Amino acid sequence: MTKTKIAVLISGGGTNLQALIDAQKSGIIKSGEIACVISSQPDAYGLTRAKNAGIPTEVVCKRLLNGSQELFEQGIIDVLDRFGIELIVLAGFMSILTENFTSRYPERIINVHPSLIPSFCGKGFYGLRVHEAALEYGVKVTGATVHFVNEIPDGGRIIMQKPVAIRKNDTPESLQKRVMKQAEWKILPLSCEKVSKEIMDAKGKK
Ligand code: GAR
Repeated sequence: MTKTKIAVLISGGGTNLQALIDAQKSGIIKSGEIACVISSQPDAYGLTRAKNAGIPTEVVCKRLLNGSQELFEQGIIDVLDRFGIELIVLAGFMSILTENFTSRYPERIINVHPSLIPSFCGKGFYGLRVHEAALEYGVKVTGATVHFVNEIPDGGRIIMQKPVAIRKNDTPESLQKRVMKQAEWKILPLSCEKVSKEIMDAKGKK
């Protein structure tokens, strides 16, 4: 049976992308294959990680499209169509995708968010900001969530979560690193395999 074709969308360092590449190599991801990496930033280091792994890369940058959301989303759709993508993985993708985009791919877009949703999520909560908010609030446990993407920011059905304990002397940076290492880099590949397998199995039944 043909593997599920995956596109990974990134904007920066791409450590989650690296976790997916490593999981594909080690066989944790076996029902899907990363067919392309799309970056919203031309200088994202994740692009180098993809190239090193021999994965085709594309840049679709809103700024270079006169700031047009419509052209930005159409640019991504064109790449997805060209590669025959069946599953879209947002891995540190920092641009908003409107309902216009998300409604085309119901339960075919997954995202990793660095908190236990529904805490510290939604509009304005991304990257380090999420960990700053968790520390400001004083929660004792945080973590990461992988969920389907719909029109509500961080509002789609949850696929997997993993908790991470907060330490007394944590800074937003130390917490971010631990949440990535202990949670994100584990549950994103596992979720990716789970959904890839579901898509592959559904194809087999047709
Ligand atoms: C990760 O912590 C990811 O969960 C977060 O940005 C970081 C990207 O790191 N994403 C969000 O906050 C999305 N709301 P990476 O580029 O090294 O994977």
